[in-house]
Amino acid sequence: MLRRLHKDQPASFEFTPANLEWAKGQISKYPEGRQASAIIPLLWRAQEQHGWLTRPAIEYVAGMLGMAYIRALEVATFYFMFQLQPVGSLAHVQICGTTSCMICGAEDLIAVCKELIAPGPHQVSADGKFSWEEVECMGACANAPMAQIGKDYYEDLTAEKLRELIARFSKGEVPVAGPQNGRYASEPLKGLTSLKEFENGKAQYNASAQLAVDIGDTVKRIDGTEVPLTMPWLGKPAKATPAKAKPAEAKPAASLPADGTGVTVQEAPAVSKAKPEGEAVAEEGVKPAGLSAARGGKADNLKEIKGVGPKLEELLHSLGFFHFDQIAAWTDAELAWVDSNLEGFKGRASRDAWVEQAKVLAAGGETEFSKRVDKGEVY
Ligand code: FES
Repeated sequence: MLRRLHKDQPASFEFTPANLEWAKGQISKYPEGRQASAIIPLLWRAQEQHGWLTRPAIEYVAGMLGMAYIRALEVATFYFMFQLQPVGSLAHVQICGTTSCMICGAEDLIAVCKELIAPGPHQVSADGKFSWEEVECMGACANAPMAQIGKDYYEDLTAEKLRELIARFSKGEVPVAGPQNGRYASEPLKGLTSLKEFENGKAQYNASAQLAVDIGDTVKRIDGTEVPLTMPWLGKPAKATPAKAKPAEAKPAASLPADGTGVTVQEAPAVSKAKPEGEAVAEEGVKPAGLSAARGGKADNLKEIKGVGPKLEELLHSLGFFHFDQIAAWTDAELAWVDSNLEGFKGRASRDAWVEQAKVLAAGGETEFSKRVDKGEVY
């Protein structure tokens, strides 16, 4: 496919202050003289900011990295993830047309795109909201046919399902990503034959769909207002513009636009609530009573609770929790408080059912997971 710059280009480009700070953070990852290594993340960010990658954006990024324009242009034209022409303001739909997806109906999906979006790939729909293209295998062959819409995968599609998804996106909804035929992940259609412990899993969706739900992901492009934009190699969070950041909301009315794209936040209840830097957020739930130290100077091995690793165990100790019976006794309100105070792991206590696990362990029993910890299979 011929990849060249679009004939109509804007006059200029520059990063927003938040994106500029983020870009500087990316550049700081690399040693002096190697700043050009940041080319892909910076071009990607420029694309996220503008919607597609313009010539002024490519030149701006090349300038920031001290690169010849042609070098940045080579990167931008080589990688298909860079959109060199305008895309739909709401979502760019990428239909996988490789073998598994093609055998399972990708051509029907492309026909829907031609009918509902535009007759040709890389053309923007009449309402400006969508564009589409056919792409090569996206690694979700077990859930063929599939499409990437915005940042997420929508799998096990049919023409009807894709029609429905486009209609829902168009109304400002954000359908939950992942399999669209009721499958949890890529297990056999007739049910699990192994890993059966996940059959009645605690998570409502598979890991990637659950994360999208938990963080309230939308098709809205990244604009630098996400909180926190961490830069761990600098030992600090980026100073984003927290005022704009909104905590994820539970199931908004479909007619309520949540951002400039007209897209509402994730339809499913979001567990995580981002706490913007410098902004007071009401504390959730009731703080459970904690201890100042482990009873008898010996704490239980809280890592026997699935979902608690060394970092979380340390955090639990700092919150005053050392024993299984303490966790087993948390009420719903106390669990909500703990969930909202697990910095970096919010929502994990309820998601991994710590209270239920702790009840078993406090009574001297074992769980499948604690047995594996005892055997040294997990740490
Ligand atoms: Fe479509 Fe692999 S063939 S995801």
